[in-house]
Amino acid sequence: MRYDQNLLDDIRSANSIVDVIGDYLPLRRSGANYSAPCPFHSETQASFMVSPRLQIFKCFGCGKGGNVFTFLMEYEKITFNEAVQKLADRAGIKLPSHEESSPEKRSLFNALYGMYEAALRYFCHQLSVKENNGLTYLKKRNIDDKTIKTFNLGLALEKPHGLYNQLQKKGFSKNIIMKSGLFTSSNGDVRDKFFDRIIFPVFSTDGKVIAFGSRIYKEEDDRGAKYLNSPETPIYQKRKHLYGLYQTKSSVIKKDAVLLVEGNVDLIKVWQHGFTNVVASLGTSLTEEQIKLISRYTKNILMLYDSDSAGNEAAARAISTCLEHHITPKIIMLPPMTDPDDYLEEHGHESLQELIVTARTFYQFIYEIRLAQKNLDQKRKAIDEVIEYILLIDDLVQREMYIQECADFFKVSETSIYRTLQSKQKKSWEKRTPLNLHVDPYHEEKEIVRQILVSPHICQDYLDNLEVDYFSHPVVQKIIIFVKTHDDYPDLVQNGAKFLDNFDPDDAQFIADLLFNETPATRLGFEKMVVGFQIKKLNIDLQALNEYIIKHPDNEKKIKEKEVIQKKINELKKHKKGGTVKKLLS
Ligand code: CTP
Ligand code: MN
Repeated sequence: MRYDQNLLDDIRSANSIVDVIGDYLPLRRSGANYSAPCPFHSETQASFMVSPRLQIFKCFGCGKGGNVFTFLMEYEKITFNEAVQKLADRAGIKLPSHEESSPEKRSLFNALYGMYEAALRYFCHQLSVKENNGLTYLKKRNIDDKTIKTFNLGLALEKPHGLYNQLQKKGFSKNIIMKSGLFTSSNGDVRDKFFDRIIFPVFSTDGKVIAFGSRIYKEEDDRGAKYLNSPETPIYQKRKHLYGLYQTKSSVIKKDAVLLVEGNVDLIKVWQHGFTNVVASLGTSLTEEQIKLISRYTKNILMLYDSDSAGNEAAARAISTCLEHHITPKIIMLPPMTDPDDYLEEHGHESLQELIVTARTFYQFIYEIRLAQKNLDQKRKAIDEVIEYILLIDDLVQREMYIQECADFFKVSETSIYRTLQSKQKKSWEKRTPLNLHVDPYHEEKEIVRQILVSPHICQDYLDNLEVDYFSHPVVQKIIIFVKTHDDYPDLVQNGAKFLDNFDPDDAQFIADLLFNETPATRLGFEKMVVGFQIKKLNIDLQALNEYIIKHPDNEKKIKEKEVIQKKINELKKHKKGGTVKKLLS
């Protein structure tokens, strides 16, 4: 649910960031700010700063930063909405409930939650009946009673009307029954979608049943689909949930690590063997939403996928998605053609523990799955694949560390990896920023946008001359778009915390970082910087045109374009010292 901006403002104003963080940490005054040892990384110094004026926090050790909402989200591992709720409670502000937001929506949601809950009770009851075939099957797979209970496993009976009759008896309307995704209908005959199957309920992190997975369990069952899942409904978007997380999240937090498996039975068996910090992605590619969900609990993902080729490819894709979201996963390698359940059945807890200890980094994993025959061509391709991964890492220090490690590991020079990286990078969205691993390639962009934020009275006039696509950093681009479309941004920035609310929590750190450095701009300094930046961008265009013209010397249009750019560069250079830049940029 999205809250009204005014309401968020009220809640924020009623919860001073210094008071709220002061409830958790021993804050001490330090100049205009407050400081404490950072709760997000281990340290003995006090790199964690809170600014009462901007109402934001920032750790200069680990980089975390944001406003009072993001602090609670990080510290308590809760969602934005939960943080809003907590702070509203703290200030005695009443939030409008779902009810008040839209009565129709609320009654549909509640009816669906109620129906899934009733369906769950029905399925669980069937499995609890003495000596049923479902239970026999689960026992044969060594799934014990405690596990069945913990994950609320159930059974759908042979006849395809059991659930339908039960729900009608409980008084659910036909309309809502048909919206639930649990039934099919042809010529007025409504049938259960799940019959004669073991049921695996899926829970939201706050414990509501929102979907069902299911599996055939009779040897003679030849219906084809071994697994069948309930579809997406208003209460269930598959990409946003992880199977098992509701039951395992406290263990994930405690161990600060999570095992990520593919299948229902894998999750259950891994859990039963004492690895209680496990979740399953359920036969989908790991999604961005799932990574964000899990990273609320831990950043340490250990992938434990099937070791067949489908599993390896799924793992390779999941690694990319993780790296894109600042998570460097480790990969546990099972012997060929094995899944976690098979492995535990054969080798047991200790043995899996040993494998976990030897979990691979992404480049080791790629090496092992690609270099079966170890010829040079394969090695070349594997290195390419690894470089694609490194490109996704945007922390430059981490990137450099991986380059060194990979060079060592593949026995090639670091320089050749840098070069390949550079040429690949040219093709990507970052092509305007030459890669220089020892300086922050975004330094200039960040500085420009920082000054636009902290000294709007000087810089706002220049906004019309700055195009979004001059900038390469995705968050810088977002900020530029925002300030160009919000004339009142100087007021918003005055209250840094309020400004942050206009951006994703993921971007908040970056912006808090910019705002904490309050060194103001001078008009001349800013002009010089903008012009320097402009010249650099034009030079890149010029270089590209030159290369083109060498290959196509007769293209008049490009030659003209080149002359125009050259002229503009010369003018900018001439006036760089003069300080009449604004006029020139237009
Ligand atoms: N899956 C699915 N739909 C399918 C096939 C698979 O949702 N049609 C999901 C299920 O969550 C399943 C997981 O993908 O648990 C892994 O599938 P598979 O490797 O086929 O599972 P098995 O290990 O063969 O299943 P089991 O151990 O139960 O025999
Ligand atoms: Mn299996």
